[in-house]
Amino acid sequence: MDFMKIGIVGSGIVGRVLGSAFLNEGHKVMLGTRNISKEEVTKWINENPSGMMGSFQETAQFGEIIVLAVGGLVAEDAIVQAGKEHFSHKILIDTTNPIAAVPPDNGVLKYFTTLEESLMERIQKLIPEAKVIKAFNSVGNAFMYKPAFPGGTPTMFICGNDDSAKKSVTDILSSFGWETEDMGKVEAARAIEPLCILWCIPGFIRNQWTHAFKLLKL
Ligand SMILES: NC(=O)c1ccc[n+]([C@@H]2O[C@H](COP(=O)([O-])OP(=O)(O)OC[C@H]3O[C@@H](n4cnc5c(N)ncnc54)[C@H](OP(=O)(O)O)[C@@H]3O)[C@@H](O)[C@H]2O)c1
Repeated sequence: MDFMKIGIVGSGIVGRVLGSAFLNEGHKVMLGTRNISKEEVTKWINENPSGMMGSFQETAQFGEIIVLAVGGLVAEDAIVQAGKEHFSHKILIDTTNPIAAVPPDNGVLKYFTTLEESLMERIQKLIPEAKVIKAFNSVGNAFMYKPAFPGGTPTMFICGNDDSAKKSVTDILSSFGWETEDMGKVEAARAIEPLCILWCIPGFIRNQWTHAFKLLKL
């Protein structure tokens, strides 16, 4: 695919890992934060000198494709802070999970959403003109770029209402070393978001965090 301007709203580990990955693939990247003097952000810029940093608003404005990488509880706030108008007609790759601010039950995370309405659906309603695509939510950040598993190429489950946006995200995922499974429209996030709960259970109960999902097909 053509090199693109990627605006990453969120400077946590997911934003930084994906920012470095997009730079490595030749794209231009701005990492968005509310605090550009934050230690992790200045370290990221030192390690990624071709990367840029900016406010959430500057980042959303800059991005031809935007990545949302903030905590689920503040996802809608972060979009409002970034300026809803900056998302119109653009692809928004939604990495978020609706994790509630309470401890897990025997390793099972709690969500603040229900099985009838995912966080992604809330985000799509907030910015109806954006092409929101769920991706990267159900694997640890250490495996988001060029995952190498003896069992083969893992599967990224994606969904979203816009087919051409899903094609672009599939191309990005292929360049990042993933096979992609399109699970349909935005409502499919009701099933994809809980995959993060499943992914985290072995981590919480036996400190095993080194896995990814693969869909086996005939
Ligand atoms: N960690 C993983 O391996 C992993 C894997 C898959 C999916 N995810 C999902 O990816 C998302 C990002 O996770 P993360 O661990 O990288 O980051 P995080 O710690 O959940 O979020 C960090 C970002 O949230 C912003 N933020 C915090 N409070 C805010 C508020 N009140 N308003 C607006 N923004 C606020 C921070 O802003 P500043 O930049 O100003 O500090 C920072 O950019 C989460 O939804 C998570 O569930 C994580």
